[in-house]
Amino acid sequence: MPFKGKLALVTGSGRGIGRAIALKLASQGADIIVNFFRHRETAEKTAKEIQAMGVKAQVIRANVGDPAKIDEMFNTIGNDWGYLDIFINNAASGVGRSAMDVDVKAWDWTMDINAKAALLCAQRAAKLMEGRGGKIVSISSLGSSFVLPTYAIVGISKAALEAITRYLAIELAPKNICVNAVAASAVETEALKFYIKEGLVKDTRQVTPAGRMVIPEDVAKVVAFLCSEEAFMIRGQTIIVDGGTSIAPFIPAGKEESQ
Ligand SMILES: NC(=O)c1ccc[n+]([C@@H]2O[C@H](COP(=O)([O-])OP(=O)(O)OC[C@H]3O[C@@H](n4cnc5c(N)ncnc54)[C@H](OP(=O)(O)O)[C@@H]3O)[C@@H](O)[C@H]2O)c1
Repeated sequence: MPFKGKLALVTGSGRGIGRAIALKLASQGADIIVNFFRHRETAEKTAKEIQAMGVKAQVIRANVGDPAKIDEMFNTIGNDWGYLDIFINNAASGVGRSAMDVDVKAWDWTMDINAKAALLCAQRAAKLMEGRGGKIVSISSLGSSFVLPTYAIVGISKAALEAITRYLAIELAPKNICVNAVAASAVETEALKFYIKEGLVKDTRQVTPAGRMVIPEDVAKVVAFLCSEEAFMIRGQTIIVDGGTSIAPFIPAGKEESQ
């Protein structure tokens, strides 16, 4: 139980990848703050699953795109717990557009939730980690480094997120806080399965050397590793979890190498 007695905040953890991360950290002993924005029911459900593992869970509603709501969330954590050991910056949103179609509203919306929130939350999280050290992990995507269709503004926000990760890793190292990120390729969530079925997203099983798509639990395992003491010397890095897709775009998936 490496995280027994530790408190973790996972933003956007009612569903999807955030939920898998929250459950993984809880299974290793962490108490969890389940943050949500629009879907209270799924957040409460995740919290119940966490409590069934014998650890504590608290649900906090906060739109991380709004700095005042970030302050409220951290004030609540400060008042109710007085400390924080792990901060997982998972919540994200975005507007599916090409770069030429991004307007000011889409830019602000996406950057506020995906990048600005990461910085503002980390600033508050670091204060609650004062004197005890901590771990901060952000969830990025391959769109930070590769051009994906209609992903411009989200990709740009994820690139900013990875840069924030590097700066924080160095600035927070003297406080014994490890900061890293995990970048996933398309992850097989319920939403993604729907988009594939509708033909809106390509079924990447065909182009993943590992032979299947990334699932939320694959991301959660790497996040848990980065939160462990085993990863102490990894700082400011973005670990790619994509089954090999990004380094082998021209190799058909699932084919055995000829001898
Ligand atoms: N799915 C993929 O293929 C994929 C690939 C690479 C990276 N990622 C990254 O992985 C992370 C999770 O993705 P996902 O697919 O699991 O997401 P998702 O299913 O779209 O869920 C988004 C989560 O973020 C929360 N959220 C959205 N806006 C928020 C806000 N303003 N304040 C607080 N919470 C907010 C949602 O809460 P509510 O339910 O309450 O609205 C929800 O829990 C994101 O950072 C995403 O960019 C995803």
